[in-house]
Amino acid sequence: MPAAKRIQELRETIEDANYQYHVLDNPQISDAEYDALFRELVDLEAGHPDLVTPDSPTQRVGSIASERFPAYEHARPMLSLSNAFDADELRSFDARVRKLAGSDVDYVAELKIDGLAVSLQYDRGMLQRGGTRGDGRIGEEVTPNLRTVNAIPLRLRDKNAPAFLEARGEVYLRKSDFEKLNANRERAGVPPFANPRNAASGAVRQLDPKLTAERKLSFFAYGIGNIDEVRQVQTQFEALEFLKRIGFAVNPYVTRCDDIEAVIAFCSDWETRRDSLDYEIDGVVVKVNPLAMQTKLGSVGKDPRWATAYKFKAREARTKLLDIVITVGRTGTLNPNAVLSPVPIGGVTVRNATLHNEEYIHSNDIRIGDTVVVMRAGDVIPRVVGPVLSERKDKLPVFRMPQRCPVCGADADRPEGEAMSRCTNAACPAQVLERVKHFVSRGAMDIEGIGDVMATQLTELRLVKDIADIYALTSEKLEKVPRTGEKTIANLLRNIEESKSRGLVRLLTGLGIRFVGSQTAQILADDFGSIEALEEATVDALKSSEGVGPEVASSVHLFFAQRANREMIERLRGSGVQMTAPRRRRSQTGALAGKTLVLTGTLSGMTREEAAELIAQAGGKVSGSVSKKTDYVVVGDEPGSKYSKAQQLGVAILDEAGLDKLLK
Ligand code: IVH
Repeated sequence: MPAAKRIQELRETIEDANYQYHVLDNPQISDAEYDALFRELVDLEAGHPDLVTPDSPTQRVGSIASERFPAYEHARPMLSLSNAFDADELRSFDARVRKLAGSDVDYVAELKIDGLAVSLQYDRGMLQRGGTRGDGRIGEEVTPNLRTVNAIPLRLRDKNAPAFLEARGEVYLRKSDFEKLNANRERAGVPPFANPRNAASGAVRQLDPKLTAERKLSFFAYGIGNIDEVRQVQTQFEALEFLKRIGFAVNPYVTRCDDIEAVIAFCSDWETRRDSLDYEIDGVVVKVNPLAMQTKLGSVGKDPRWATAYKFKAREARTKLLDIVITVGRTGTLNPNAVLSPVPIGGVTVRNATLHNEEYIHSNDIRIGDTVVVMRAGDVIPRVVGPVLSERKDKLPVFRMPQRCPVCGADADRPEGEAMSRCTNAACPAQVLERVKHFVSRGAMDIEGIGDVMATQLTELRLVKDIADIYALTSEKLEKVPRTGEKTIANLLRNIEESKSRGLVRLLTGLGIRFVGSQTAQILADDFGSIEALEEATVDALKSSEGVGPEVASSVHLFFAQRANREMIERLRGSGVQMTAPRRRRSQTGALAGKTLVLTGTLSGMTREEAAELIAQAGGKVSGSVSKKTDYVVVGDEPGSKYSKAQQLGVAILDEAGLDKLLK
């Protein structure tokens, strides 16, 4: 294809994508694809400078301002950033910088927050106007909306702040707030947002500021527009210090780096750690530190030569949804799973992804045969974000959940108010298999030798029809399992025997009672001490355990009320499975005697488990949720929603040092 034709094609596709993304908040292609198209255009234009026109997407910065809001003129243009996709591209960026600068330079590395860029104008210390980036020169004026963002100061803290200041930064939505927002939307029957960035951008560009306020936006400042007028600041690092001093939130992980290798180390560190944050980051912004050097370097077109964005590997891709298959979970849930045309995402080939439940499939209008956007975030299972509607050429049928369990054929039921359909047959082989797999897993009874394959064989041969049957296995029975020799059988029986003494916590975890994971199992074991006591416990008695809410209490009660479950436990007991735990006797005199603490965020001096142990030794108790009964909430780095809950309820808040003091 001639270059001119391809350039035209790329421009149209890119402009279309810009509009979908920035104006409609409804991206149709992944960031990675966009970047690839953009790069191809940049490269082509570089080879054919005569074909560059002022209306090419390479000649503008970001989005088109929509006409719903008044225009906001930036005091200085808001620049965009060139990209670097690996360490070598960072090294070439650095080589270019040093060549033009004529000397070595130091850098500031900042997390690239995945939100929405805004600029804020302060007149004699008062917030006057705020706007989106728009095309870099003119954006949308959204002052009333930005005023609802608590992290944006309405008045600067420093009396010596300059007469006029344009601060810049990123408005974003915390992942925890995003999840709450989407849960509310699902409850209200409106489609969930695809990601926090779209939700944030939509919130800033609401016509009603009340709606903006409801979304609980956050903000990090990362630069000053009219920095040439701020005399006391000589470097980017000082600019951030200055912003902090006058009242802005600045990201705590900003790091000054002596050379590009230090920058590269920062980038690879955060590429692996990004999921530990409560906000999305999509890369690292690298800036030359001395402002004088920035001025000397200047910019090419709209991209400064003194900064670049290192982009993390994409975790989103488009592929074909070939089929939706149903698997049956441990509690009988019918889980819809996407069968995908295999696609590489961030280093692994993805073939399957979750579709959550029927509601999710319908509210996102996902249909078999669609081209879909798939996202893989860290260690979580990939999920289908939604269809690419522009790619849907034919009429595709709407997906319906089956009315019968695909494994045992029993009726499926979706109780009122629940998201999941369930198989109603407790003896359904698929459920039994999942329960067995869970029972023998590491965190539960930890029976080595019963892996997925062995568990499948045992249940398919009907040697194991419930978990108690595991302890009734004999060598005669195990000989029926194909390809199982004498030695394997002996080892297996020994491991099964050993597992009997794992104790109450592991047993409770392994039973697979709904809502009872290892933490809750620990609390129940501490407070009740035996299965018998739990069998007899009323819902109220269960609820009186700190950290056991009404949902958990009734689920535990329901479990022990079932005849089948009681019989199974009786058989476990008969086989000699240990069913008691020493009730933890709490120190009555320790520094934390009688106190309940909740931990949130990452502690720096110890793990959370270690902290819990120290607290227990001092007579205190650790609970999983904050309530009025909580005495202290210990807050580490990147705390979750427990922190805000504590603030709401007025519970005393400690940092790690505060906890240390109490323990001493
Ligand atoms: S500096 C010339 N710093 O990334 C410098 N941008 O094109 C221009 N972003 O949407 C931007 N975190 O809003 C800068 N610490 C950071 C940033 C950051 C996120 C966004 C920015 C823009 C894009 C860069």
